Amino acid sequence: MCCMPYFVMLFIGIANLTMKGDCRFEFTNVNCSSFDKKFGEFEYCFLKSVNRSYKYFSAKLQLYQLPISIIKINLVMWKRYNGYKPFLYNITVDFCKFINNRKSNPVANFVFESYQRYSNLNHSCPFNHDLIMEKLSIDIMNHRMTKILPFPEGDYLFETTWFRSRVRTFVMKIYGTLS
Ligand SMILES: *[C@@H]1O[C@H](CO)[C@@H](O)[C@H](O)[C@H]1NC(C)=O
Ligand SMILES: *[C@@H]1O[C@H](CO)[C@@H](O)[C@H](O)[C@H]1NC(C)=O
Ligand SMILES: *[C@@H]1O[C@H](CO)[C@@H](O)[C@H](O)[C@H]1NC(C)=O
Ligand SMILES: *[C@@H]1O[C@H](CO)[C@@H](O)[C@H](O)[C@H]1NC(C)=O
Repeated sequence: MCCMPYFVMLFIGIANLTMKGDCRFEFTNVNCSSFDKKFGEFEYCFLKSVNRSYKYFSAKLQLYQLPISIIKINLVMWKRYNGYKPFLYNITVDFCKFINNRKSNPVANFVFESYQRYSNLNHSCPFNHDLIMEKLSIDIMNHRMTKILPFPEGDYLFETTWFRSRVRTFVMKIYGTLS
């Protein structure tokens, strides 16, 4: 096995070693939905393959009630066995609090660092603009999934659910395979 589960590595104390082997992470599908179209809608949300080695994810969320100073986001990581089962992480962050103290939540910070250069959801609150994810590339995820935080091989789903006053407003699902 080329990708050792992170918790095993942590346990045996080698989490900082770079793993050998050639695991690859591939995005396979995305699905973005809005459950409150008066609050916001996805203008686009897609994966694009430029060539065999360059594939990226882009999305734009148009927001109709600005500014936004409270964003609650739940992230659940799923792994497929017979059907997807929650795997390792189920975290909820109050984004506006988190962004002012990123060390408070290492998992959220890992996710944040993965996308921060590709998204304008990368500064402190409030937000006065639409939210954009621009060309988050596989290579970045590849490096982060296989070198920094190695996971076991398999199919994964990263599901983020956004809440506004406890009501689900947006769901973004990113599917990928680590092989
Ligand atoms: C996308 O996700 C929504 C809910 O999050 C679901 O209702 C819909 O069926 C999904 N679409 C596809 C193509 O899987
Ligand atoms: C894939 O496309 C990117 C962006 O256009 C380019 O930089 C890269 O050289 C291409 N790779 C191959 C193998 O063609
Ligand atoms: C994630 O955790 C929350 C709060 O503990 C819980 O309500 C929710 O059902 C969990 N989600 C999954 C997919 O297990
Ligand atoms: C935030 O994202 C924008 C692109 O949307 C980028 O130009 C900028 O450098 C990013 N800022 C940080 C602190 O990463």
